[in-house]
Amino acid sequence: MRFEIIALLAAAATSSAQSVIGTAYGYGAGATGGGDATPVTPTTNAELEKYLADDTKRVILLNREFDFTGTTMSGAGCDKTTCSAQSNGGQYYLGDLSCGGSDMTSVSSITYDAAGPTALKVGSNKSILGVGGKGVIKGKGLSIVKGASNVIIQGVELTTINPGIVWGGDGLDMQGGNTKIWVDHCKFSLVGRMFVVSHYDGAEATLSNNEFDGVTDTSATCNDNHYWTMMMIGKTEKFTLDKNYFHHVSGRAPKLGQDGVDSYFHAINNYFEEMKGHAFDAYTGARALVEGNAFVAVDQPNTQHAAGISTFVSNGGNACSSVFGRACLENSVDSSSGKLSSGSSSGFIAQLGNLDVPNPIEASKVAAYVKANAGPSKLGASSSPAPAATTTAAASATSAPAAKTTTAAAAAATSAPAALTESASSAGAAKLYAQCGGLGFNGATECEAPATCVKMNDWYSQCINSSSKFRRALGR
Ligand SMILES: *[C@@H]1O[C@H](CO)[C@@H](O)[C@H](O)[C@H]1NC(C)=O
Ligand SMILES: *[C@@H]1O[C@H](CO)[C@@H](O)[C@H](O)[C@H]1NC(C)=O
Repeated sequence: MRFEIIALLAAAATSSAQSVIGTAYGYGAGATGGGDATPVTPTTNAELEKYLADDTKRVILLNREFDFTGTTMSGAGCDKTTCSAQSNGGQYYLGDLSCGGSDMTSVSSITYDAAGPTALKVGSNKSILGVGGKGVIKGKGLSIVKGASNVIIQGVELTTINPGIVWGGDGLDMQGGNTKIWVDHCKFSLVGRMFVVSHYDGAEATLSNNEFDGVTDTSATCNDNHYWTMMMIGKTEKFTLDKNYFHHVSGRAPKLGQDGVDSYFHAINNYFEEMKGHAFDAYTGARALVEGNAFVAVDQPNTQHAAGISTFVSNGGNACSSVFGRACLENSVDSSSGKLSSGSSSGFIAQLGNLDVPNPIEASKVAAYVKANAGPSKLGASSSPAPAATTTAAASATSAPAAKTTTAAAAAATSAPAALTESASSAGAAKLYAQCGGLGFNGATECEAPATCVKMNDWYSQCINSSSKFRRALGR
């Protein structure tokens, strides 16, 4: 039986890798990308660049790494005295934009990779799809050009864009006026500036199931956590943030809006973990419904500034009922985290329209679900979690397959446990961060040394090691 399930999954993964998995929802609803265009598989950097840039409807499959690094340049800039790139694990600041402060010392020559500062341009009507977790773009980010719409980026990893250098490049940049944008199951790591930024005329987008991995030894605040995570500061931003995994980031995770600009945000079921800094920052004009998120070891779930915005709302209660047909979901904040504060002007929630996510879950289930599903390698491993209203183990075990009817969805519903089982090592011990227990789990329950199996909740136990020495070794 086990073998059949795995074979079925393998078949599903092979066929579905050729097209978008799932359907865009939330503020990115309507995105179809390249639709049914015959897929193209670029084999060189130049080919990739060409396929992305125009407005031809296209499905672009990335089944390998595209490495743009290797050509260095140098330029003037500055370093921070109190958190030095030269001596403390800080970041250099290229150019003079950030060099005004009294804490800044000029540096005549900063060496950086030439690829980072100019991103790959992305035009309209594109599906950019990583295949089997192998689609990696290294050294350059993606920039959705001004006015471009209908772009799906799914299962792609963006990494190593001048991580030690602020203004050395962004991961994903939206140049404004971008609608129908869906960024799903991507991974961002080791970037100089923002993992994701939307600016100028604003965008309408959904970011779901992405991993924002801030582990770095060059950080703006010298704490091994990437600071520049995400900001949406254009005119009228509309973003859905659903089931993303933010970890080891220390700032702007995310930064919502700009004073005096009306923007709408629905941040639901995101998992924030091990953050030496802040998660949400928000500005006047941001109307943000922040619900069903989970925070574990997060210094500051929101900034003081966000706490002062009355439309930054993180309460449970029935303000969601009239628009979503369900109560707003409580967030969960563990005892090692700071406080999540909330404004009380929930009237704007009615203006969010019918933009709920397809499977809202209770905050208590978010950590397990998100860690098992976020990022390129987990694409297609998505289980349908029990709906938020369902609380018993029995209901959860049966409701996932029942909720969907297509063959692909049924296969997908069974795949989460299999994927988790795979992450246990063949030696019979689960690897660091792998699942090692929980209702319905039948993989290895021992962890590889020096990790130990720690119960997070009834659904999920995980191999972790909390000794500070070990955490330093991991770059935390
Ligand atoms: C994208 O595709 C749609 C539907 O085929 C088309 O109407 C639109 O003009 C395309 N966009 C661009 C910028 O070419
Ligand atoms: C964590 O790792 C260290 C070695 O780096 C080990 O000595 C310690 O026992 C481990 N702690 C746990 C809780 O597994």
